[in-house]
Amino acid sequence: MKAVRVLEYGGPLVFNDVPTPTISRDEILVKVKSTAVNHIDLVKASGTAREILPIDLPWIPGHEFSGLVEQIGSDVAACTPGDAVFGTTAGRGAYAEYLAVKAAAVARKPSNLSFEEAASVPVASQTAWAGLFTHGHLERGQMILIHGGAGAVGSYAVQLASHAGATVIATASGHDEAYLKSIGASRVIDYREAAFEKVLREKVDVVFDLIGGDTQERSFSVLKEGGHLVAATQPVSEEEAARHHVSGVMMRLAPSGDGLGRIARLLEEGTIRPDVATVYALRDVAQAWKDIAGNLPGVHGMSPSAPGAARHRSHGKIVLRVA
Ligand SMILES: NC(=O)c1ccc[n+]([C@@H]2O[C@H](COP(=O)([O-])OP(=O)(O)OC[C@H]3O[C@@H](n4cnc5c(N)ncnc54)[C@H](OP(=O)(O)O)[C@@H]3O)[C@@H](O)[C@H]2O)c1
Repeated sequence: MKAVRVLEYGGPLVFNDVPTPTISRDEILVKVKSTAVNHIDLVKASGTAREILPIDLPWIPGHEFSGLVEQIGSDVAACTPGDAVFGTTAGRGAYAEYLAVKAAAVARKPSNLSFEEAASVPVASQTAWAGLFTHGHLERGQMILIHGGAGAVGSYAVQLASHAGATVIATASGHDEAYLKSIGASRVIDYREAAFEKVLREKVDVVFDLIGGDTQERSFSVLKEGGHLVAATQPVSEEEAARHHVSGVMMRLAPSGDGLGRIARLLEEGTIRPDVATVYALRDVAQAWKDIAGNLPGVHGMSPSAPGAARHRSHGKIVLRVA
């Protein structure tokens, strides 16, 4: 099968033939239709975080996919060949024509979504769900501040929090204000123009931090006592959390087919919607990574000023069409 591989840390993406994976009893073989690009693909491939995010080289990137079930293991009862599914990978990547994956990690693809749209959903939506409800304990009537609300994770967080009956305030670039209001944000603070802690009049119950750094440090002061700071990009200072009488946690996505099935139902009934920015063919993955690398200076040997590393400003995910 054709696949994209990283042969060495920081090395080029190589598109060529590799053996098709075989499945074990609890796995299915998926003919991949689409996969999506995540920051973590670039971070892992660069080797900059190899202590905490090690990979086995050569490595096929890709943490999420949509496709058709080609084969099922002898213990699998939930799927049959020909089913349209989507899900997350564990270890083996989805930048490939075929993927072996645990049957428990997939859900039925929502019938109203294209394969490209479906591939953009699993990582961002499940991260948003876990951030809001598992770690943030968000409830109806509460107020939440979401940093990076127009990003891939943030846009699901805005939609899910709004659907749950919370008041949603998001920080984002000013040009994303209309988009964020259309998906449920009550208020958008342009992070380039205003310091959120200076313009917020009320304290919030939950902060979901998808940015980190100084944005996280400034977030303690806008939380109510007993509130929750949930971070997706870096650990939260225990001392600062204790000083402000709030809880702080850095979350790590623990995806599941059941969780994704719950999200699939919300997509199918139109309660939430996916957002795809660009679709590339799998063989053009290098350009897709250049688009994203502008947001991750120094990763995979690229910088915002490197040729072709245009900063990816529009909202929505970058998807790779495989078949
Ligand atoms: N812990 C986990 O399990 C987990 C899972 C998934 C993702 N993540 C991490 O979560 C982060 C967000 O992921 P993503 O896929 O949503 O990223 P993304 O799609 O690139 O979105 C980032 C968004 O943040 C905006 N932004 C940049 N600086 C900001 C600031 N100072 N204040 C407010 N908004 C700002 C960007 O807008 P402009 O481009 O207009 O500046 C963009 O809309 C990444 O670091 C990712 O690695 C963690």
